[in-house]
Amino acid sequence: MHEKYLEKQVKKTMELIEYMSQTIDDFRNFFKTDKEEKEFSLEKIIKNTVHLVESGFESLQIEIILDIKKDVKIKGFPNEYSQVLLNILSNAKDAIAPDKNKNKYVKIKLQKDKTGKSVLKIFNTGRPIRKNILDKIFDPYFTTKHESVGTGIGLYMSKTIINKNMKGNLYAINVKNGVEFTIEV
Ligand SMILES: Nc1ncnc2c1ncn2[C@@H]1O[C@H](COP(=O)(O)OP(=O)(O)O)[C@@H](O)[C@H]1O
Ligand SMILES: [Mg+2]
Repeated sequence: MHEKYLEKQVKKTMELIEYMSQTIDDFRNFFKTDKEEKEFSLEKIIKNTVHLVESGFESLQIEIILDIKKDVKIKGFPNEYSQVLLNILSNAKDAIAPDKNKNKYVKIKLQKDKTGKSVLKIFNTGRPIRKNILDKIFDPYFTTKHESVGTGIGLYMSKTIINKNMKGNLYAINVKNGVEFTIEV
């Protein structure tokens, strides 16, 4: 066996392991679902979740701005909701990272609509999502990232959690200077 061949196989194997561990990360919390619906504070979930990721954002000089004037309590699955927020924040970080703009940030805004439904908007600075892929980003395995980083299941899982498990709505739009995800439950 040639040394070159061996080297190539080792490299390929390492890439596969990396990909698998990313997939495991994505799935880890998906199956750890809460059994019963319960009432929980969105302010608390948002703050806990942001705390988990803030050092990663800090190291890239991306600010996370919270706009929570009043807490909203909803009924559902807090761990799953947190997982959705993690997915959206992780994508936001990936989207902002290559941005040359000096003013890089994520803004999380919590509101309640007229019917009492919670509306959480997560805005990130960065390039808009191209029109031809905007309706594909929630499809399973759809990714525009390199195969060693992207699995394409984050948003699919998130949509399942919000729309199916919690009877809410999750969608994304391009807005001025960035992208905005909305979670309604
Ligand atoms: N905030 C965002 N800005 C731009 N594109 C995004 C954003 N969030 C998601 N996307 C697009 O949606 C795709 C699917 O996201 P996701 O399901 O989390 O899979 P992954 O992150 O593994 O690629 C991403 O590859 C990217 O093209
Ligand atoms: Mg993702």
